[in-house]
Amino acid sequence: MKLMITKNNIEGGDKAFEIIKNGMANGAKVLGLATGSSPLPLYSKMVHSDLDFSDIFSINLDEYYGLAPDNKQSYHYFMQQHLFDKKPFKHSYIPNGLAKNLDEEVKRYNKIIEENPIDIQILGIGRNGHIAFNEPGTPFGSLTHVVELSQNTIKANSRFFDKIEDVPRKAICMGIKSIMHSKKIVLLAFGKAKQDAIKAMIEGPVTEKVPASILQDHPDVTIICDPLAADKLS
Ligand code: GLP
Repeated sequence: MKLMITKNNIEGGDKAFEIIKNGMANGAKVLGLATGSSPLPLYSKMVHSDLDFSDIFSINLDEYYGLAPDNKQSYHYFMQQHLFDKKPFKHSYIPNGLAKNLDEEVKRYNKIIEENPIDIQILGIGRNGHIAFNEPGTPFGSLTHVVELSQNTIKANSRFFDKIEDVPRKAICMGIKSIMHSKKIVLLAFGKAKQDAIKAMIEGPVTEKVPASILQDHPDVTIICDPLAADKLS
């Protein structure tokens, strides 16, 4: 694992942008994208850059189950608002939160990931060490699956909703095995709330109790943190 400590999230976004830019210059065609506040400075940098994504595919990590793409809290909406409306990709894949048949949707998404191997995967990290919505206890061998969100995650994500009862209880989520298949991974984490997760991911044992700890076994991971998120590292 390579660790980069940047002054703040803006500088962190700049570093992640450089990785994407270099990756694309070297032939990267598929970007794995994440939601949450951590990648926002990166997306803003992408939007304001002269990079052209019209020949690039994107695959998002997850979507809440039950939310329509035009629901303001959906990850579809988030991606449109922060990136795709301004920088269209050749095709952008996100799980369908309204899928009637979840088994079919899971199969469809796995096929998309299989057919479009991810060159660079952007990740955030949950306070409990989750990546995407892969909560503690998710098998490292998992592919796309339907997730019951933990109370911890529901509480953390309720800041984006009017009230905690509005946070969906389920999500469709790319599995850990698929994330580990990405050629390159860039994880962004900023602020005090991420200290324990960062410490456990980098210095703790590789365990399904801390989903992000599996990244220790990936050959090309860059962790970009601010000094606060990195504060508990020895
Ligand atoms: C959600 C998302 C994750 C994200 C995490 C942290 O649970 N599903 O992909 O990494 O939140 O979000 P933030 O970057 O806002 O702290």
